[in-house]
Amino acid sequence: MNLSVNIAGVTLKNPVMPASGTFGNGREYAEFVDINRLGAVVTKSVSIKPQLGNPPCRITETASGILNSVGLQNAGVDAFLRDDLPFLKQFDTRVIVNICGHTIDEYAAVAEALLGTGADLLELNISCPNVAEGGLSFGVDPKTVQRVVAAVKKRSGQPLIVKLSPNVTSISEIAAAAESAGADAISLINTLLGMKIDIKRRKFALPRKVGGLSGPAIKPVAVRMVYEASRAVRIPIIGMGGIMTGEDAVEMMMAGASAVAVGAANFRKLTAAADVLDELIVFMNENGLNDITELSVML
Ligand code: SIN
Repeated sequence: MNLSVNIAGVTLKNPVMPASGTFGNGREYAEFVDINRLGAVVTKSVSIKPQLGNPPCRITETASGILNSVGLQNAGVDAFLRDDLPFLKQFDTRVIVNICGHTIDEYAAVAEALLGTGADLLELNISCPNVAEGGLSFGVDPKTVQRVVAAVKKRSGQPLIVKLSPNVTSISEIAAAAESAGADAISLINTLLGMKIDIKRRKFALPRKVGGLSGPAIKPVAVRMVYEASRAVRIPIIGMGGIMTGEDAVEMMMAGASAVAVGAANFRKLTAAADVLDELIVFMNENGLNDITELSVML
């Protein structure tokens, strides 16, 4: 059975990876999951300088999902290159480094710092809803998307995946803007803006009031947006948003994704991404499929 997929010229041995921010930088999971089995590992967002993130509470449960307000906490690119990338490079998998910034120049500086370091692909986070500067503010206007993508492409070496937000009116327009500025692939969806109120304390559950909703509750939105984006661009799409099972992954690929990322499910079960891969293989066997690309021609 052929499970390999090509994302922007980089071959992944299978299409399943954890979503950024749900798998640490691999170390926390390595004791429980055979990382060699995954098509790629996507890191937590890396910024040019260390970031403390938001004050607690940062994660709260909702029906069929979770709201997070982490705020892109990370130790900065120097620490990432010293401590995390060498760890991840031990495994027989691709390393996708998710990058973030407060300004276009910061995004480009992180990309530049990763030049020639062994990171296989970069994922540009212009969709985090939990920071005052950068993140989502760069991902909702097509012209701004073009500016940041073009600036990062100029100073980066690896193929660039642009991670899109669902908090927009037309995902097709944003996807097309990313592609026109040189994106090599897109990934979607990041979290949906949400809010929760603790009615007993009469307080917002999250100090920033709004957070990002993920988990099975958002899967139908993700499938719809992956479908729409796939009609708007020619570059490959990594689909994510509420994937809990192999059948969810199949649905995302039938919608137009070439690969899939498993996010919130990793918090419920440490082996979620590898389990999704196993279940995807079961689906292919049961349906007489020999090549992963056959999934996309089933519609
Ligand atoms: C966060 O760190 O706040 C979540 C990351 C994201 O939404 O991109």
